[in-house]
Amino acid sequence: MCGIVGYIGHRKAAPLILGCLRAHEYRGYDSAGIATAHDGKITVKKGVGKIAEVDAKYDLEDMEGHAGIGHTRWATHGAPSRANAHPITDCTGRLAIVHNGVIENYAEIKKELARRGHKFKSETDTEVAAHLIEEYLKNGLEFEAAVGKAVARFRGNYGFAVLKAGEDKLVLARNGSPLVIGFGRNEVFAASDVPALLRHTREFAFMEDGDLAVIDAKGARFMHDGRPVRRRRMHVSWTADMAQKDCYPHFTIKEIEEQAASIPAALRVDVGRAAKLVRAAKRIHVLGCGTSYHAGLVFKHLLARAAGRECEVFVASEYGESAVMKPGTLVIAVSQSGETIDTMMAVRHARLHRAKVLAITNVVGSSLSRGADANVYINAGPEVGVVATKTFTSQVAVLTKLALAVAGRKVAVNGFAKKVKDVLALSGKMKEIAHALRNTDDFFFIGRSLSAPVAMEGALKLKEIAYVHAEAYSAGELKHGPLSLIAEGIPVIVIAPAAGETHHKLLGNIRECKARGGKIMALSDSSRLLDEGKWKVPMPPVSEELSPLLYTIPLQFLAYYSCLERGFDPDKPRNLAKSVTVE
Ligand code: F6R
Repeated sequence: MCGIVGYIGHRKAAPLILGCLRAHEYRGYDSAGIATAHDGKITVKKGVGKIAEVDAKYDLEDMEGHAGIGHTRWATHGAPSRANAHPITDCTGRLAIVHNGVIENYAEIKKELARRGHKFKSETDTEVAAHLIEEYLKNGLEFEAAVGKAVARFRGNYGFAVLKAGEDKLVLARNGSPLVIGFGRNEVFAASDVPALLRHTREFAFMEDGDLAVIDAKGARFMHDGRPVRRRRMHVSWTADMAQKDCYPHFTIKEIEEQAASIPAALRVDVGRAAKLVRAAKRIHVLGCGTSYHAGLVFKHLLARAAGRECEVFVASEYGESAVMKPGTLVIAVSQSGETIDTMMAVRHARLHRAKVLAITNVVGSSLSRGADANVYINAGPEVGVVATKTFTSQVAVLTKLALAVAGRKVAVNGFAKKVKDVLALSGKMKEIAHALRNTDDFFFIGRSLSAPVAMEGALKLKEIAYVHAEAYSAGELKHGPLSLIAEGIPVIVIAPAAGETHHKLLGNIRECKARGGKIMALSDSSRLLDEGKWKVPMPPVSEELSPLLYTIPLQFLAYYSCLERGFDPDKPRNLAKSVTVE
């Protein structure tokens, strides 16, 4: 949702910023740009398209200066265009700014500034920030005071990095949109998240909401409500190599394949303290968005079945409106990035009502993890592909372990890593099926019980990267309406592990679809269920509890290969970004 990079130090800024932007491109890719300060002047180069396209056109590396800012955009206000690309400048051209987030009250400030003679060149909300800072500088404020005064007027969420000609520093401001600061030797970096900077440093400080930071080549100062504050430095264990594509054509397929290691690693995560919190809670609310919401649904089933405990699962953006808050509530917030604004706002709501918060995230130091009472990290390593793949199965693995731990049980992991590998070996088969279905525009995914959220996840993946219409239903729901859409040739993908008590009912649902011309793709370890399929995906036998971990994988392959069949880039799906920091 827009990537920000800043650099100040002893090296030439533009090539470094460009490298970091490339590592940041999963946050947005409709336009990009860099501004550097040199010789008392600001130079800006920017344009529409992915970073490589903008670089090919404008040669982004060829810019003088040892301080600069860069941006890769996911448009919110104003279509992708050169004028709307960041960095955005003020009237004097001596100030450049990059922004992530939304300034909700920008229209009224824009009117006021226009009345004072400021000339606007873009349709962005960001531009009001540039002109407002300019205005305060004109009134005699110092650089950082002018930025501080400007951001104090904004409603909404933002991360800003501001560059001014003639200053040996950058000023950063954060409210709702993440900003991290990375420390090198005689150089300091800023970025929207950690992976962008891993090539250069593993020492980070994390800005809090309401913070202003001033960075120069020697270090960083932080202020909050006008007062100096300290922000702890942390060493992160991720390395730059973990965020490389290696020999894979796309991050998405690399990360799907990495599940051979990431699922077993997640099953080793310690959930002891979290289980105590769940046991002690009077009621449990689970929050998440998209894929993380699906992981929450798996947890709900498992907790009920294994531990006889009820929990409610909420789409985080609906939480404030739909949750009844009572004392003794534990909120389990699930978010791989730990930065999703909908989840953060839901957690804020929960906190106002004194709920305890347990965060399940992948990113150490993320906003969610810093604000939580307790954390469980899923240890999936960096996920660069925009769609969540290995982080979903790692979330599910950790939540499975947690649900069983609440019941005083352990996950039976013996031989499970081998089963994951066996399922990963289905890649070729799923590629063939994707090819056979390359001209199909409507898909149904069905499953019962624990497999219903797996069906939802499979449909979401297909929609996200192959841009194909896909519906997911709990199989028993089909006959209550959507069966009317099952017509000759419509593929119905059935998640059908033999373990559990529902597969005989599933057989009935399959027959209902077949009777209307639906073509079944059966994923199962039961030959009886597989025999129902036009396409058969034979799965290794697995306990019902662990089945979501295995059955998700072929669906990820299906989405990936369907995306390639249709000629799209799986790493950069349209209208999506890796971490969604606007409501
Ligand atoms: C799906 C996907 C999104 C995210 C959602 C929540 O592939 O990537 O649906 O799952 O935006 O993101 P996190 O987990 O970072 O809160």
